[in-house]
Amino acid sequence: MYRTHTCGELAIKDAGKDVTLCGWVHKSRDLGGMTFVDLRDRYGITQLVFNMETNNELCGQARKLGREYVIRATGKVLERSNKNLKMSTGEIEIDVAELNILNKSELPPFTIEEETDGGEELRMKYRYLDLRRNTVKNNIILRHRVAQEVRKYMDSIGFIEVETPVLIKSTPEGARDFVVPSRMQPGTFYALPQSPQTLKQLLMVAGFDKYFQLVKCFRDEDLRADRQPEFSQIDCEMSFVERDDILATFEGLAKYLFKQVRGIEFKEPFLKLPYREAMENYGSDKPDLRFGMKFKDLTSLVKGKGFQVFDAAEYIGGICAEGGSEFSRKQLDELTEFVKRPQIGAKGLVYMKYGTDGILKSSADKFYMPEDLSKWAETMNAKKGDLLLILAGEKKNTLTALSELRLEMGNRLGLRKKDTFFPLWVVDFPLLEWDEEEKRFFAMHHPFTSPKPEDIDLMVTDPGRVRANAYDLVINGVEIGGGSVRIHDSSVQKLMFRVLGFTETEAEEQFGFLLNAFKYGAPPHGGIAFGFDRWVAMFGGQDSIRDFIAFPKNNSGRDVMLDTPSQISQKQLDELMINIKKEKK
Ligand code: AMO
Repeated sequence: MYRTHTCGELAIKDAGKDVTLCGWVHKSRDLGGMTFVDLRDRYGITQLVFNMETNNELCGQARKLGREYVIRATGKVLERSNKNLKMSTGEIEIDVAELNILNKSELPPFTIEEETDGGEELRMKYRYLDLRRNTVKNNIILRHRVAQEVRKYMDSIGFIEVETPVLIKSTPEGARDFVVPSRMQPGTFYALPQSPQTLKQLLMVAGFDKYFQLVKCFRDEDLRADRQPEFSQIDCEMSFVERDDILATFEGLAKYLFKQVRGIEFKEPFLKLPYREAMENYGSDKPDLRFGMKFKDLTSLVKGKGFQVFDAAEYIGGICAEGGSEFSRKQLDELTEFVKRPQIGAKGLVYMKYGTDGILKSSADKFYMPEDLSKWAETMNAKKGDLLLILAGEKKNTLTALSELRLEMGNRLGLRKKDTFFPLWVVDFPLLEWDEEEKRFFAMHHPFTSPKPEDIDLMVTDPGRVRANAYDLVINGVEIGGGSVRIHDSSVQKLMFRVLGFTETEAEEQFGFLLNAFKYGAPPHGGIAFGFDRWVAMFGGQDSIRDFIAFPKNNSGRDVMLDTPSQISQKQLDELMINIKKEKK
């Protein structure tokens, strides 16, 4: 056997055994007569000891071992005199009798430790070294575990995993496609799937009934902490179901994963919050409900007292931050600066402190009598010690700004705890969104989403008011998944394309395969896709998905390790009949 044990499994019960271990030199300490080497592999760290008195030559070899050398050591398990009870192997060490250097290593560009000295760029360039670090390694193992649990659960409830192609057809809706040129048909392109949406619907037409897939998706869009150009979905679809059957099925998956992965049991059904309420109360379609601070509409209460900022506003809304009356002038100035940032866009912030002494003090004191302020406090259910924060302006923007302020206050007051989870369904999204620039409607989810049956007539008369049979799973302010009941009737699908501004020919060209399939007995169906990377990152207690992906891209979509995207040879371009345009000066 190459090795008898791993570096994570030997304990006091193994004392006296002869063992062989392999791994990387994590650290070594030369204490004169003794040399200690921490040997690391995927499973843990075991201390090797080389004793100059008993084996001078071997000890000399051990002294020359550099960080990250790959070695093989044979020796006897001994009980340590100086135990380290923080490590599972901390009660023993190996008295080495034989040492082989399997491979030398150059000095790594950063330390392979929990707290590394390597910056993000360097860690990404040497990702294979970064993956040796415990935290990142454990994230990848967590990802594996979640994937196994997903497969186990989906299989147990009768879902079949079916792979769908990666070279598909480019479609005009959604984000930008990544495209792949065809050599055999020059001048034509495949697209990489943004999701297998239409393919899973075709599997329903094919009669598969319950489908899922852990699948790579590709979107050429601006990146953020929770967005990668290639990411994974748990993609699911089922037939002969209504919305609540789908929600119940996947609530089952969510609860199962929480139980298995985090040991958390949700006994109650998840809250179902209509989109409109989410927007009115939290200014977001993915509200973080780990804490309250629900918005209060103060528009009619505060207008008409000569305060121009409020009098001119379409909407005035406030939040009540419990225990916030202690905020200093400096902190309130910071909050004002926060809401005035261009990406948030509020003009200013009005506050009212409800002191612990019962005194009400507002930045708009000049315009409001103490009785007015008492009414504010009463309307917002404020108590002594609370802080009211109020924004005013155009309604949509003010709701969004207030949402950012609410999250900021949640952070500042420590209300967004990593180990607390609040899952909910946001339901009844609008079907369509008006795009002012293009002067047309876009599908809010995608063009295959079914309108609520009672709203179908509005598709012709007032498309903006049609509600979709669509839903998102939101946890702690993150959209973990989204889906819908689908249109399964070709005439409704054609109407949808028409509302989206497609001519009949365009719809036929782009989506003919689907419209055609619907002519041959499409069952009622619907489904959902979860952002797998996001879910794993959330289980791992982090906002960024990057460290839960073995080889991620950076913020500009580059893989700095592979150094790509990169140019291809003229020969390849010629085969593809592609000319690269010179950038204009
Ligand atoms: P949607 O576009 O909402 O729906 O995507 C589903 C989920 O995928 C995750 N996600 C991402 N994760 C990381 N990086 C990205 N760039 C990224 N984009 C999306 C989110 C999101 O909720 N076909 C439909 C699903 C359906 O209707 O069944 C779809 O793809 O967590």
